[in-house]
Amino acid sequence: MTTNAAPTIAAPATYPPVTASGRAVGEPGTTTKPVSAEQARRETALIEEVLASFEGATSPRLRQLVQSLTRHVHSFIREVRLTEEEWNAGIAFLTDAGRITTDARQEFVLLSDVFGASMQTIAVNNEAYGSATEATVFGPFFVEDAPRIELGGDIAGGAPGQPCWVEGTVTDTAGNPLPGARIEVWEADEDGFYDVQYDDGRTAGRAHLFADEHGRYRFWGLTPTPYPIPHDGPVGKMLEAVGRSPMRASHLHFMVSAPGQHTLVTHIFVEGDEYLTRDSVFGVKPSLVKRFEEQPAGAPTPDGRDLAGRAWSRATFNIVLPPEQEASDEDTHWIAVQDHDA
Ligand SMILES: [Fe+2]
Repeated sequence: MTTNAAPTIAAPATYPPVTASGRAVGEPGTTTKPVSAEQARRETALIEEVLASFEGATSPRLRQLVQSLTRHVHSFIREVRLTEEEWNAGIAFLTDAGRITTDARQEFVLLSDVFGASMQTIAVNNEAYGSATEATVFGPFFVEDAPRIELGGDIAGGAPGQPCWVEGTVTDTAGNPLPGARIEVWEADEDGFYDVQYDDGRTAGRAHLFADEHGRYRFWGLTPTPYPIPHDGPVGKMLEAVGRSPMRASHLHFMVSAPGQHTLVTHIFVEGDEYLTRDSVFGVKPSLVKRFEEQPAGAPTPDGRDLAGRAWSRATFNIVLPPEQEASDEDTHWIAVQDHDA
């Protein structure tokens, strides 16, 4: 729920009971140990002490963030009765995530992604609005200043893959075309790698273009193929330990902007792709799954391009941008945080 009211710092009066909830209750290998009243009093007193320590935060929003985080972290520790060995393992995991992170490798974004935290943040910040196209994860592979192509141009830049003709319109939620809308597109090659994952400095599989005076756009890209998120680090080890695949459903990234409209960050996914139901970062929305129609070798292309006898595909993606979100008086929104797991 979004309100303009000052943040409420909910007292942990209804703090979750110490016993675990949900699936963990009574399951072999889990801890549901009840604690005495005196033990519960000591634990909640610590929470109160930590919450109070943040009362002097420099802004109400910062105070809300750190106090809410305190409540949730302590809730987690108490619910699972975190052992010191597990706490150490957690610290080691985060340390490893830091060590492997570089300008080109962001393990913490991956961690956020595989917990669904990235998608939840996107959901919170892109409230459903009429017919507006749904947003999905930004991902770690966007690059500023990708080359500009003309309408009907090719984003591949030499990246290997099956050619794919993509076209559509960019409109507002009333159906009015948005001439000149800026469309950024980027994707992996058929080997599952983005250009930035190669160490030769190439720029391929990415570009930007502008919608025409009728809000229409078209370009050549590559038929998307599945690829794994980087899984040679701690996040990959965690996925393996829990029996999850690092694979992402085949997709093509878009970021679309126009004056007065909320910028949309999204993908389109390939109908029939085997990973649609188990995308490793929870990015798939049914409304974003599109038919990529396979065209046989030699089939005439929309713009007469000679593909030298190669097969190709085509997809349509009509993009609807919501209006720019209005800022509140304080240019921010306050979230009334509720204990979610009582
Ligand atoms: Fe991607």
